[in-house]
Amino acid sequence: MANPNLSDRGGFGSKFGIIAAAAGSAIGLGNIWRFPYVAGQNGGGAFLLINLACIVLIGISLMLSEFVIGRRAQRNAYGSFKKIAPGTPWYLVGFMGVVAAFVILSFYSTVAGWTMEYVYQSFANGFAGKSPDGLKFMFEEFMGDSWRAVIWQVVFMILTAGIVLAGVKKGIEKYAKLLMPILLVLILILCIRAITLPGAVDGLEFLFKPDFSKVNGRVILEALGQAFFSLSIGMGALITYGSYISKKDNLTSSAVIVSFADTLIAILAGVAIFPAVFAFGINPAEGPELVFITLPNIFLQMPGGYYFSIFFFVLLAVAALTSSISVLEVVVAYFVEETGLSRKNATWIAAVSITAIGVLCTLSQGLVPWLNIGGMNLFDIMDFSSAKILLPFGGFLIVLFIGWVMKPADVRAEISNDGKLKLPLFKVYLIIVRFVAPVAIALVFLYSIGVIG
Ligand code: TRP
Repeated sequence: MANPNLSDRGGFGSKFGIIAAAAGSAIGLGNIWRFPYVAGQNGGGAFLLINLACIVLIGISLMLSEFVIGRRAQRNAYGSFKKIAPGTPWYLVGFMGVVAAFVILSFYSTVAGWTMEYVYQSFANGFAGKSPDGLKFMFEEFMGDSWRAVIWQVVFMILTAGIVLAGVKKGIEKYAKLLMPILLVLILILCIRAITLPGAVDGLEFLFKPDFSKVNGRVILEALGQAFFSLSIGMGALITYGSYISKKDNLTSSAVIVSFADTLIAILAGVAIFPAVFAFGINPAEGPELVFITLPNIFLQMPGGYYFSIFFFVLLAVAALTSSISVLEVVVAYFVEETGLSRKNATWIAAVSITAIGVLCTLSQGLVPWLNIGGMNLFDIMDFSSAKILLPFGGFLIVLFIGWVMKPADVRAEISNDGKLKLPLFKVYLIIVRFVAPVAIALVFLYSIGVIG
């Protein structure tokens, strides 16, 4: 093998390290920023229920499938398909993942930049004395002043690149292990404050009481897209991470634990946010600014809110960071293994080009309003096309690959660590990846674009 980068790939050091890194990828802005606003726009309870169904029926198996492909091949997302199915066009799925990484990280880094501004505002006590309307105005004013957002975005991308540069074990794993547990504790504290606000019940009802009259094809596609986005599935991030998992570790339990933790954090974020949305008269369908308007209201209402807000936004930025590194790692691993670039050069080339697109996304929200197509600005287009097109389509192809292209005996050998682990549910898994998941994803697609239903 000519490329020396393929023999020294690095890997995660421990079971907890894998779970922390994969959970670090999954848990991020998708849970705390995206889930509440998408749930808010799609009716609340019924959306949550459908989202949960997507996670249990499809998401967990897809996460496992990505781990299997990566660990089997010991390659980046593109190289994995090439190695397992040589001489076929399946590598295009991996290539699509690399493209999706650009799309996702460009708007993700915009929002991550917002969290950094809010870290700054927390330190500067910038929320003090503001009414709910004042806090809304504060966010909108910040968005209109995109250069500030651009600067934070660039700072964030430098941090992301720095951690990816440090490598798998000393960068990604180390930080994820330390920071993910703190995030959980902090969200729990916020939940307690939120559910003791006057009028909290309305928020909890909105989140947990399904109103099925609000369900249509679009809501189902949103719920599916949110499940994919939040679990980090459908574009090869977890194929890449799977390739760093030791052959001794249990892939199934890792996938189950990570999916569970991810879902828990999203629901807790909902519990922290919706009571406040109703208590402070904020519109649940507010959109991407929901979290940034709602949470400062809560902080102003808590003893020690000044410190909590600093702590919370720092952790939110960190959660965004552990997710971003998993997206950037897809591109970097691809460059390193397929083109022979050094890790350093690969990281900088990827980070700089993604940041360039990302800056356009940020500008499209304020200073450069002509960056839009048919009423959707570039930011919305990137969000829409990743969650609702690229990830479901990628996921569809990944399950087809696992279910129909790889030999079941190979899949079984990989999941069972060559027969060492018992797999009582293997048949169920095969049925899901062969039939349930591809059919469900295809139906949701056709239904939502109006072909059926
Ligand atoms: N899952 C992360 C979040 O919820 C975002 C993310 C990281 C992601 N890696 C991904 C989304 C890969 C899709 C694909 O914030």
